[in-house]
Amino acid sequence: MARWLLRGAVRLPENGTDLRLPTAPGDSRPRHVAVIMDGNGRWATRRGLSRVSGHEAGMRALSSVLDGALEEGIEHLSLFCFSTENWSRPHAEVTALMRLAEGAYDFFGGYVDRGIRFWWQGSEARLPSEVVDALREAEERTRQSRTMTVVFCFNHGGREEIARTAAELARRAVTGRLDPEAIDESVFSRHLPLPDLPDIDMLIRTSGEQRISNFMLWRAAYAEFFFVDTLWPDFTGDHLRALVTAFMTRKRRFGAVTSG
Ligand code: FPP
Repeated sequence: MARWLLRGAVRLPENGTDLRLPTAPGDSRPRHVAVIMDGNGRWATRRGLSRVSGHEAGMRALSSVLDGALEEGIEHLSLFCFSTENWSRPHAEVTALMRLAEGAYDFFGGYVDRGIRFWWQGSEARLPSEVVDALREAEERTRQSRTMTVVFCFNHGGREEIARTAAELARRAVTGRLDPEAIDESVFSRHLPLPDLPDIDMLIRTSGEQRISNFMLWRAAYAEFFFVDTLWPDFTGDHLRALVTAFMTRKRRFGAVTSG
């Protein structure tokens, strides 16, 4: 059964066959697409499977989404894989997510010849050293790629990132390397982890939930939101392409008044 988006005349296919794309005016493609990949647990439970199987299916869904993102010419694709709040999940589930992260290069390394670069966004706190090493190694081994950057948000929290940035600015101020009077939004942005990552243009959340869940709060300031009912393991590159087309029909004003 097809579902309708809250805004924009685009039908999301359950099986990729009933796609109806609206005509987009001009080329206003999103440079940075971010995804809250929600619904793995429900997808698994409905099939009588374990939540861990749901995350494994969620990982498999990434292949089609990466293909779609590459076809759409997206420069940065941020994926929310594990939040600073997810530590409160059952131990077996946390362990399984750590294992998937440890295998990040096994998965994303398969896309290096298509130009995918891997960046890790998140805190080292509480992470096993093998996971930190694996994520750093994936960054290092994909360093030369340039077509699309996948930002792997793992042990990421929007507030944690802002607090860490504030602490860094404070350290610089007390050691005389930064004038506190000079701190403004652009200085703050330049001290965020991954300072070269642009603001989010479009933010997708699957599974019908409509909240931001502490995801990239600073960079989501003017993101266009797309909430879809599809559970993450069923989300495909065709869904992504339909949403990108819907994004292109939206009028972004960034708080300004525009004529027409
Ligand atoms: C939210 O669904 C999903 C997550 C917390 C993890 C997302 C992980 C993947 C897409 C697999 C790839 C991950 C790694 C680490 C490589 P949920 O579990 O909250 O689902 P529910 O709301 O239906 O319970």
